[in-house]
Parts: sequence; C-alpha cells; structure tokens
Amino acid sequence: MGMNVPDLQTVFIDLQDRSYHIAIRGSLFDNPLSYAELPAASSALIVSNTTVAPLYAARLTTALQGKYANIHTVILPDGEVYKTWQTLNLIFDALLTNGCDRKTVLFALGGGVVGDMTGFAAASYMRGVPFVQVPTTLLAQVDSSVGGKTGINHPLGKNMIGAFYQPLKVVCDLDTLKTLPQRELSAGLAEIIKYGPIADLDFLAWIEDNIAALMARDPAALAHAVKRSCEIKAWVVGQDEREAGLRAILNFGHTFGHAIEAGLGYGEWLHGEAVGCGMVMAAHLSQRLGLVDAAFVQRLTTLIQKAGLPVTGPRLSESDNAGRYLELMRVDKKAEGGEIRFVVIDGPASAAMRNAPDALVREVIDACCA
Ligand code: NAD
Ligand code: GLY
Repeated sequence: MGMNVPDLQTVFIDLQDRSYHIAIRGSLFDNPLSYAELPAASSALIVSNTTVAPLYAARLTTALQGKYANIHTVILPDGEVYKTWQTLNLIFDALLTNGCDRKTVLFALGGGVVGDMTGFAAASYMRGVPFVQVPTTLLAQVDSSVGGKTGINHPLGKNMIGAFYQPLKVVCDLDTLKTLPQRELSAGLAEIIKYGPIADLDFLAWIEDNIAALMARDPAALAHAVKRSCEIKAWVVGQDEREAGLRAILNFGHTFGHAIEAGLGYGEWLHGEAVGCGMVMAAHLSQRLGLVDAAFVQRLTTLIQKAGLPVTGPRLSESDNAGRYLELMRVDKKAEGGEIRFVVIDGPASAAMRNAPDALVREVIDACCA
C-alpha cells in the first residue's frame, strides 16, 4: 500500500438484532475478505447501473465468486429520474427469472439511487431478503447507504414510497471515488457539511480547514470526513431508527432542497446541490426566527460555496415563486396536517423542528432565490 493510504476504519450501527458495521478504506469492495462474515447463500444479485457497472461490477463479481455459486447482475438505467416503480420492477424481474430464493443476497453497487432502490427491493422481495451496500458516491458513503432508509420517488413527491430496512454491512471503498465526477463530489460534500451545524461544531471547523483537500480528493481527508459523518449518522440512527423525532435533524436543508428537486424536475439539480442550497435557506430561516445570527448564516454560506455548491435558489415559478416552493414543501414527509415542519439550527451544533408562518418563509425564499 502507498504511504498515503489510510488504515481500515469501522463504524458500528447499534440497532439490536439489526446492527451492522460500515467498513471504510481503499481496496475494499473487490477484496473477498470484505464479505467473509456474511451468511452463506447459493446466490447473489448485484444491482448496479449503466455508469457504475462497467467500472466496477466485474471486480465485485470476482470478489464474490468463492462465496456464492450463482452471481447475477441487473443493470438499471442511470439517474434520479429512474428512481421509479418501473425501474424497481427490473430488480424483481431479475430476482424471479433467476430463481432467487429467500437467502439470496442483494448487493447495491452504486450511488444513493441504486442503494435506495436495491434496499427497497430487498425489503419487499419474498417479504425480505438480506442486502449489502457498496456505495460508490461520496453522498452514498456518508449518508444514503447508512441507516436503512430505502425507497423510490412518486411523481408527486420524492422518496414517498419506501421502507426502513437495514443492510447486513456497508463497504465504503474510498478508491471508487476516484472516478466520480467533480459535481458529484461536491454533492457529497453537502451531506458532510450538514453534520457540522446539526451535531459537531469541531467537525464543521475541520471541514472549513480541509475543504480544499476534500475538493482535491486527498485520501486522508476523505477517510476522516466519511468516518466522522458515519459516526454522527450512527449516533442519530442508533437513537431513532424510524424517525420518531431526533432523526429528522438529518434532514437539515432537505425541505427546501426537495422542493428544488421536485420543482425543477428530478435530476436537473443533483440531490446534494439542492441540499446545499436548501441549507443556506434553512439557515436564513433560523436567523429570521431569531435562533442564529447573521455571522453563522454567512459562515455556512461561504463553506457551501467553497464546496462548489449553489447558494442561490432557482426560480420555480415566474408568477408566484415563493408560493410554488410552499406548495411543494407541503408534500414533504415531515409535514403534518399540511403544516410544513422545518429543521432549523437553534444553537451551537443543535437542530430542532419548527413550524414557521408562511409570510416568514416567503421572505426567506424571496431573499434566497434568483
Ligand atoms: P446517484 O446514485 O444518482 O449517483 C450520482 C451519479 O454518479 C450517477 O450518475 C451514478 O451513476 C454516478 N456514479 C456513482 N458512483 C460512481 C463512481 N464511483 N464513478 C463514477 N460515477 C459514479 O446519486 P447520489 O448522490 O449517490 O444519491 C442521491 C440519492 O440518494 C437520491 O435519490 C437521494 O434521495 C438519496 N438519498 C437517500 C438517503 C437515505 O438515507 N436513504 C440519504 C441521502 C440521499
Ligand atoms: N438522510 C436522512 C436520514 O437518513 O434520515
């Protein structure tokens, strides 16, 4: 191994009989040892997409060959726009036509879209089969592959159909990030930055100090960012697996962000880009609610900008832009009885759920949009 290769790091997700490990390092996904502790089965199905499969599926197949007699692959179309019922059905088609049984292990090889769909397929095929996350985007490594949220989009709302279903293991191979487009790297940084204001101001300061190294894909910086993000997510999910309360803080920036994604059409802005801009808007809302000062909003905006992310919201309607945002945000899963619930920052490394008067939210949108 080269001098700059970080050691193996593991993060434990403590969920009683659904507990599992996240392994973090380079040279992991194509190493048979990464899968040694998984239960025996006669078959495995690798789920990937048209971009990731040509890069990595053959190496994963080789790594799994000593373990499973039959290894099948299904290759999905690439993109958020395909995170649909129709694409999900391609996974069920592959499982059934290949005679996969209750012990078949699904491997999600790709970003959050592949991971969320594979997890949902695993949750529902024969009422539940095991699955492993092999996340290949920064966003998936620090967020979507961890914690068991799985699902698909509905034309009327993002991630509206799904299940909580935990993987057996998460294998975060940092080497896969070498082929990631820069825009996708920035999208992952949005979810990393998120963990600072909601849970760990030291981590926020560390990201500020290391943002150039992260943008340049320094292996040691990425290793630390992925590990600390997973630790914070593990801490939250371990207390509130099914989002009865606390887990909602992981959605800081997401209420505005989901409106941007849905309003522009899925895939126009990347999820992480929408979350980055959404955090700026949520910070402004926190300020207008008297919870944080202008310096905090500026600090977060500067970091998000340095991460290569948009900080000005897109217009979603020429006639009533704020009204369109509000309409879209009412479809958010956190909304209760049509009341939008926002994640706001209410102190150092502290987030909370709040309602806000429409008039105030309109002010925020008007101030933050082009
Ligand atoms: P993505 O899965 O669309 O991947 C981004 C792009 O990168 C795709 O084109 C993909 O094919 C490509 N790609 C993936 N790995 C690559 C690699 N190593 N090299 C080159 N290209 C690669 O997007 P994402 O940002 O990973 O995930 C976003 C999705 O995750 C959204 O659908 C979002 O709702 C979901 N999400 C879920 C959770 C959760 O808790 N389940 C959390 C956050 C986000
Ligand atoms: N990404 C939000 C959550 O996992 O709860």
